[in-house]
Amino acid sequence: MRHRSFLAWTAVILIQTAALQAHAAPGQGQTPGVPQSTAPGSAGTLAAPGSAAAESAGSSVPGSSPIDRGKYLVTAGNCISCHTRPGGTPFTGGRPFVTPFGTIFSTNITPDNATGIGQWKAADLRRAMHEGQAPDGRRFFPAFPYTSFTKVTDADVDDIYAYLRSLKPARYTPPQNSLLLRQRWGMTMWNAMFFVPARFTPDASKSAEWNRGAYLVDGLGHCGACHTPRNAFMAEVSSRAYSGGSGIMDEVAKDELRPWSGVNLTSAKEGLAAWSVADLTKYLKTGFCARAGTFGPMNEVIVNSLKQMTPEDIKAMAVYIKSLPAFDSDTAAVSAEQAKPGESIYKDRCEKCHLSSGRGGMFTGPPLSASAVVQSDDPASLINIILYGPSVPKEVTLGAWETMKGYRDILNDEDTAAVANYLRGSWGNRGRPVSPSEVARQRVPSK
Ligand code: HEC
Ligand code: HEC
Ligand code: HEC
Repeated sequence: MRHRSFLAWTAVILIQTAALQAHAAPGQGQTPGVPQSTAPGSAGTLAAPGSAAAESAGSSVPGSSPIDRGKYLVTAGNCISCHTRPGGTPFTGGRPFVTPFGTIFSTNITPDNATGIGQWKAADLRRAMHEGQAPDGRRFFPAFPYTSFTKVTDADVDDIYAYLRSLKPARYTPPQNSLLLRQRWGMTMWNAMFFVPARFTPDASKSAEWNRGAYLVDGLGHCGACHTPRNAFMAEVSSRAYSGGSGIMDEVAKDELRPWSGVNLTSAKEGLAAWSVADLTKYLKTGFCARAGTFGPMNEVIVNSLKQMTPEDIKAMAVYIKSLPAFDSDTAAVSAEQAKPGESIYKDRCEKCHLSSGRGGMFTGPPLSASAVVQSDDPASLINIILYGPSVPKEVTLGAWETMKGYRDILNDEDTAAVANYLRGSWGNRGRPVSPSEVARQRVPSK
């Protein structure tokens, strides 16, 4: 699963263009038509860094030494997935993030003096994770999820620092970014418009478990990077947090890169309404539960990060996610008439595993009724699994289910859209109609 990118940094290009046209001064950020309230964490949620309240949510990390605790926190932040290129030494970077404007490469975060962060002080890592800035003031692109990491307590960043310092320094310089992505000045304005650095603020009216879950999901877990929609400038829209994300570039098969969508994680009908805390805990911890199994970009999140976290932390994350207020989609749903043409395809190809009731079976496959993937507003992930089938990591066992194969050579664009619409319009599911051209788009290589 290489080449992932959230496209977030494409904002830079837009902003740089907009800034040139508008001659807007950085820091004023009043571009017409750009919502001003989308920064993650608004003023007023700023916790005094180091305050007892803010530190408490970060206090239950296993491990007695800073290095042990840091190792666990680095796992919770899934630093390794993004900072390791295929076949490369862990944490030495060079993983390509392919985008329509070119490629950006992650950096070497081992303590090598020449090519890594060997010269960095603890305060430099805090500035990078909390403010998105390098020691020399350069602004990072939000492909590095500092808009989430800004929530992490000073104490936890310092433990992460201790762990990264304990790694063997490895000399490696990632390739240069493509031309457009060597420009960073647009990020100053992007930050002024969309980013308010702010540590996590516990909610005293909620349980310690809920606060711990919120701290992990909103902070190190950076779940919003893929599960929150972004605005035209690719900033996460906090007023629609966790209602579903788009434009996640990842593989559908070896070396085949396509966009994916992250499901609605709120308790909307189109989201996780049907999931219990126990379902969600099991899915996050193992990649499989009675409601669904992992098959796309979640593979790395589960294998490299969530699977290695404590059961208590995973449960806390599930408790927090299940408390998110339902965010329903407002688009028109597939009608019975629009669902009908896909029925015979479903009966021929899918029913033997997902059953005529859409409820799936213990020895066949997951339910498609009430499925968040099926009902997702952006159908990219739904189309991907139908065309390419699931990719299941060797570390994950999908109970006793059979193996689903892809239908890319069997179903054409019309048929694929028809069966997708059958799923979206049956068994109480709702989702806007999928068009054959949306299916065609998922067949086109992005590179
Ligand atoms: C989603 C992918 C992703 C994740 C997860 C991620 N990073 Fe990064 N990180 C990047 C990218 C891409 C860059 C380069 C950003 C740029 O050049 O603007 C980067 C840059 C950095 C830098 C700047 C280094 C330098 O030399 O300038 C540091 C430090 C860093 N990351 C630390 C971390 C830590 C610690 C974690 C885990 C807590 C982490 N990253 C998780 C993608 C990621
Ligand atoms: C041989 C059994 C089998 C057949 C036939 C089959 N599937 Fe699946 N399907 C599965 C299994 C098993 C999974 C779980 C894969 C995973 O999570 O990694 C799955 C997952 C899915 C999902 C994701 C559900 C979710 O909520 O995560 C969708 C959507 C889906 N299948 C649609 C279809 C469609 C449409 C067809 C027919 C064109 C079909 N399947 C045929 C076994 C099957
Ligand atoms: C790199 C992007 C990415 C990140 C980061 C991410 N997700 Fe996902 N998530 C996805 C995509 C895409 C899917 C669709 C299915 C898949 O990949 O298996 C998904 C599916 C899910 C599902 C539903 C599974 C189903 O089949 O219905 C849950 C629950 C979930 N993610 C929770 C989380 C949580 C919690 C986090 C943070 C710890 C997180 N995700 C981080 C991209 C991401």
